[in-house]
Amino acid sequence: MLESRRRRSNTRSRSGVRGLKARCRFCGREASYHLDHARMSLCSECFIKYYERKVYKTIQKHGMLRKARRVAVAVSGGKDSVALVKVLHELVREKFQEVELVAIHVDLGIPGYSEECRRVVEKVCGDLGLELHVHDLKKAEGYGIPDFMNTPFRRRICGACGTVKRYHTNRMAYQLEADRLATGHNLDDTVEILFELYLKGAVEEIVRMRPVSWSSHPKLVTRIKPLIELTDRENFFYVLAQDLPMLEARCPLVGESRMLRRKKLIEEIEGRIPGFRHTFYKTHLKRFLPRLEKTVEEPRLAECEVCGMPSLGRVCSYCKLTSKLRRAEISRT
Ligand code: AMP
Ligand code: FES
Ligand code: ZN
Repeated sequence: MLESRRRRSNTRSRSGVRGLKARCRFCGREASYHLDHARMSLCSECFIKYYERKVYKTIQKHGMLRKARRVAVAVSGGKDSVALVKVLHELVREKFQEVELVAIHVDLGIPGYSEECRRVVEKVCGDLGLELHVHDLKKAEGYGIPDFMNTPFRRRICGACGTVKRYHTNRMAYQLEADRLATGHNLDDTVEILFELYLKGAVEEIVRMRPVSWSSHPKLVTRIKPLIELTDRENFFYVLAQDLPMLEARCPLVGESRMLRRKKLIEEIEGRIPGFRHTFYKTHLKRFLPRLEKTVEEPRLAECEVCGMPSLGRVCSYCKLTSKLRRAEISRT
């Protein structure tokens, strides 16, 4: 599962370049990667420059690192967050020298999968010389994500896992005194979720789909998504071009979920309407978001009675969720 340097040899077949004749748009050398949405082919070196410039522009456009001192980068081991930690490392070195990066990882305790995630994260962060903090759910909290299989969340395990990851990445970033929490959410993820939210008319949730979620509570760290304008493919190519390890296996707890079906649907639409994802995201950001933000009130956060972290109600969604684990444990004994 840990991809090795061997990968360079089969780059071409996975890079979308058809045949041997494609030339790099920028330097004219033989191209290694083809970007359908931009209708251009690039060599490895020019692709790296193109990618890093694009992430830099996204960061600047949204003021993601304005006055930032310490950025916690959430790394799962998947291609997006591996690309994220590498590109941020490069940009901090070149353009944001005042910023300090720390990597954080939540070990979800999924047998045969989490060990691989952790190995990739440790290798990538070790090679970059980055400080890495791991929160091991089994060791620190006494449960792993598979334990939700014994609760009513069995059928919505990804949702439960999402709540756990959001809670612990925020808490780790807060405890590390980071003023930003960077995640690897990309354009494809964002459009897939937005598509569903617009269909449902979930206005409050649509408003939360932003490149930056500024903190509204001292214990809530501002979340930034520097890869929000980069596609799945671009992140994958960056990992290949930089010859980084990444996890390729899918989580064993996720079946043919609604999310995967939606992914295929968006791919089909993109096939018929080239540039659909970019257009949809831009329309959301420029046309809808500013109007919706005026009408939807920002929820007021209190502190959870159980754990003291930010919460919408008396008890936060994480504490409600994990109390179900305890109930399942009690009913089994
Ligand atoms: P996902 O929710 O799995 O699509 O992941 C979205 C982003 O959340 C990733 O790109 C990472 O930045 C972060 N993330 C997901 N899983 C973990 C994890 N186990 N540890 C740390 N960060 C994670
Ligand atoms: Fe969260 Fe599999 S990684 S359910
Ligand atoms: Zn709580």
